[in-house]
Amino acid sequence: MSIVVERLSHTYHPGTPLETHALKDASLEIPPGGWVSVVGHTGSGKSTLAQHLNGLIYPQKGSVSVDGMAVEEKSPDLREIRRKVGFVFQYPEQQLFAETVFEEIAFAPRNWGVSEGEIPARVTSALSLVGLDEGYLPRSPFHLSGGEKRKIAIASVLSGAPGYLVLDEPTAGLDSFSRKELVLLLKRLQQDGMGLLLVTHDLDIALQASDSIVILERGEQVLSASPREVIDHLQAHPLPGLFLPDIPALSALLRTCGREVPLTWDWVILKNALTGDRG
Ligand SMILES: Nc1ncnc2c1ncn2[C@@H]1O[C@H](COP(=O)(O)OP(=O)(O)OP(=O)(O)O)[C@@H](O)[C@H]1O
Ligand SMILES: [Mg+2]
Repeated sequence: MSIVVERLSHTYHPGTPLETHALKDASLEIPPGGWVSVVGHTGSGKSTLAQHLNGLIYPQKGSVSVDGMAVEEKSPDLREIRRKVGFVFQYPEQQLFAETVFEEIAFAPRNWGVSEGEIPARVTSALSLVGLDEGYLPRSPFHLSGGEKRKIAIASVLSGAPGYLVLDEPTAGLDSFSRKELVLLLKRLQQDGMGLLLVTHDLDIALQASDSIVILERGEQVLSASPREVIDHLQAHPLPGLFLPDIPALSALLRTCGREVPLTWDWVILKNALTGDRG
């Protein structure tokens, strides 16, 4: 059981003057409780790859399967695939549609057949997961700040209780505290068995939190490796737009001198800092 992407390619507007080879031969696997991050500079194909995972785009070449179900246009399993794979869009405006925050977050569980009596509990629990209180429920999602919209978009996917979560740049627009809170939330979900695919420009988060990292460059998968291997690779072969943050660069340098040090900041230390537990 996992999400398996095999040799996936995608061309926008094939055979026209607008033809763009956005993705070439990408492969990855997300097991339950696994965290794969996809990094790469603007236009490298990250969103194109991510959108295949719950059938927002269908494979033209190669394949995607979710717990053994093929993601294909005519697949009878598409509804089940979309229930299993929650997708948080790159821009909250692509996702938000309801008149109130309550209705927004209630949509997914209602859509998947949760009984009306259970909906309020689902909604408040998803809202509290993203660190917002019930005062937001009657408000319009469109009259919120960028960071608040982002949180509502995430809550509105979590309320559907997906088994996998695909997030396209979820830290954009969040302040540094909310960004760290989001990493902790994702870590907790991962520990509870959720499989995660995180598209991010934030190499620090990818290095710190992922089990494996896929680097895309102009649609090509240049590397799929552990955070440690990615640090060593980027140290030796810098890529445009992917600068190794200071701490991982320093840790790589120390390791070349024979010192075993953590790769980057430790989320347990961070969690203690956030909860005020310095012990
Ligand atoms: N709907 C579309 N129609 C045509 N071309 C597209 C479409 N969406 C993306 N592209 C092109 O495909 C390539 C990959 O785009 P994609 O959005 O997947 O990149 P990305 O890595 O997510 O970029 P960013 O970091 O800016 O979000 C780019 O050259 C882009 O211009
Ligand atoms: Mg994108």
